[in-house]
Amino acid sequence: MNSQPHFWAVIPAAGVGARMRADRPKQYLPLGGRTLLEHTLDCFLDHPGLRGLVLALGRDDPYWPTLACADDPRIQRADGGAERADSVLNALVKLEALGASVDDWVLVHDAARPNLARSDLDRLLGELADDPVGGLLAVPSRDTVKLAGVDGKVARTLDRQLIWLAFTPQMFRLGALRQALEQGLASGAAITDEASAMELAGAAPRLIEGRADNLKVTRPEDLEWLRLAWKQKC
Ligand code: CTP
Ligand code: MG
Repeated sequence: MNSQPHFWAVIPAAGVGARMRADRPKQYLPLGGRTLLEHTLDCFLDHPGLRGLVLALGRDDPYWPTLACADDPRIQRADGGAERADSVLNALVKLEALGASVDDWVLVHDAARPNLARSDLDRLLGELADDPVGGLLAVPSRDTVKLAGVDGKVARTLDRQLIWLAFTPQMFRLGALRQALEQGLASGAAITDEASAMELAGAAPRLIEGRADNLKVTRPEDLEWLRLAWKQKC
């Protein structure tokens, strides 16, 4: 494996978590006595290769100031935007203000993905260290994948060998990612992750196979599953 590069981390945490239907944004729900967001931050803050971290938060977020890590000097803040891509872009602008250079690696990781294993993070960094573009953690589909028709019936079955689920972190160079996000947002395309912006810009991000349990808490059953899994850890 290649030696690992230094990197910056961006954590978009300005979503409302509508699909979770909870009384607060999902990143502030508890898991093992702390919030999802605190666990997610921990995945990065104690990594020796980390140069700095920017957290994108909703402008009137009343929950962040109540956390024990709210005044941690290693955590810089940026304003969240209307879509995830807007939040990430704001964080990249902040990184530049902090002195990051265009060729530096940035790892973008969902706040709602607290179960990232250090081994996955290190594999991503090691595998992509010398890559000109970058890439993302991803998992090959274990199920057969159906393309739905407008009537809710199966239109056709896709070739499972070619289907990967895109996870985070996603790792790209600061300058290239910023440009890709700006262009993608300006074009009005749906940009649901950093890789899709890079793809629109003509780049081919690499898929790095990761663990399936690096799940994004999206629906209530995801958190139920994580709480069971973490009972052994906490
Ligand atoms: N996010 C963000 N800014 C937005 C929207 C999302 O920073 N305008 C963040 C979320 O906080 C989350 C990550 O992007 O950490 C992934 O988004 P998603 O899972 O879709 O979270 P939510 O948008 O909060 O959830 P939902 O789509 O169910 O409302
Ligand atoms: Mg969302």
